Amino acid sequence: MNMNIKEIREDFPILDSGIIYMDSAATSLTPEPVLDAVLDYYRNYNANVGRGVYKLTQIASQKYEDAHKTVAKFIGTTSNELIFTKNTTEGINTVASGIGLKKEDKVVVSLWEHHSNLLPWIRAKKTLGIDLEVVKPNAISEGEAKTQCALETSDFVDAIDKKTKIVAITHVSNALGSILPVKEISKLCAESNALLLVDAAQSVPHMKIDVRDMGCDFLAFSGHKMLGPTGIGGLVIKEELMDEMEPLTVGGGAVEDVSFADYRLKQSYEKFESGTPNIAGAMGLSAAVEYLEGIGMEKVRAWEEKQGKRIIEELRELDNVEIYGYGSEAFERGQRIGVVSFNVKGVNPIEVASRLDTEASITVRSGHHCCIPLMNYLGLGAEGTVRSSVYLYNTEAEVETFLELIRKISNS
Ligand SMILES: Cc1ncc(COP(=O)(O)O)c(C=O)c1O
Repeated sequence: MNMNIKEIREDFPILDSGIIYMDSAATSLTPEPVLDAVLDYYRNYNANVGRGVYKLTQIASQKYEDAHKTVAKFIGTTSNELIFTKNTTEGINTVASGIGLKKEDKVVVSLWEHHSNLLPWIRAKKTLGIDLEVVKPNAISEGEAKTQCALETSDFVDAIDKKTKIVAITHVSNALGSILPVKEISKLCAESNALLLVDAAQSVPHMKIDVRDMGCDFLAFSGHKMLGPTGIGGLVIKEELMDEMEPLTVGGGAVEDVSFADYRLKQSYEKFESGTPNIAGAMGLSAAVEYLEGIGMEKVRAWEEKQGKRIIEELRELDNVEIYGYGSEAFERGQRIGVVSFNVKGVNPIEVASRLDTEASITVRSGHHCCIPLMNYLGLGAEGTVRSSVYLYNTEAEVETFLELIRKISNS
């Protein structure tokens, strides 16, 4: 199951600078084939899409269409169900504003949500008066620390009811690395006739995703977290919901017919992509998907799990280090990815991150990770945690350097 990390690293020119990049949950590095795909568009077939008859635009349009197909297939769907967005945030906002929420509706989210899957719903509560319910751990079982923040399917049972219009949950917590059982939760949604939106920003880059098998109605993700460029992402919308949904924006490229009084929108993903799309970004995202497929998502996941497990187990040996989220046993249960959140007691997370950077060019994230309510639940406030997040280009030697330095910081 091993990957050739040395060969992989040669595809990432930024690594020549000597950085040890452990902040891939924020954004991933970009390999040469993705850079090439973006440049290829600007160099060789730079034209708008879907709007002309000349050869160059036809090449661009065909490639844009192909990019839809490649990315859709990667997550187990077809291009008629995938719209390109700017990022996960835009995908979630598209759903929140497009499903016709009304005052009497209820929206269910979880304690683990990123601000991008909270603010659109809080706004709906403020402007429409919807009921917003946040699922938190119901009970902390014996021997289980509050710092684990465990969430099980059973925690959602009471919250999802006949009033629930949509359940909007993260697949993987960006702050904890913990995985929600979305497939099981989808069954609860079906029983109550509720829609299910999965925020897959942290899962699509790290594991094999099959949207249909997952049983969700919407799935949002970002290209820049999966080796693609910034400014491009995807939103899967179940085909039968596309007709009745309102797009986030309306304008050129999305219409069948227009008069001064009215317009008729196209009945395809184009309805949701008005205006000139991020064509170069789509080419880059498609190349990123091909790159990941070339390696194999099972291998990517296994490699990250191995590194994540080692980080957790070694940090656990340090008396004054506190780890948040599930322990390393959760890898075997399929409840974890390689993201590790922790604190060195008595040392501000910013200081830990700065020392890692200045002493060994190690990049990790410090702070609330756009999860202020979760950090408050953990009693951490906006200071938050230190978060390491590995990807397919991290070596075991890099992980060792990181651990060495944490040992040193925790002893000083
Ligand atoms: C779980 C999760 N959801 C949503 C987002 C927002 O992603 P973007 O900034 O690409 O829209 C992130 C980004 O870190 C995330 O981790």
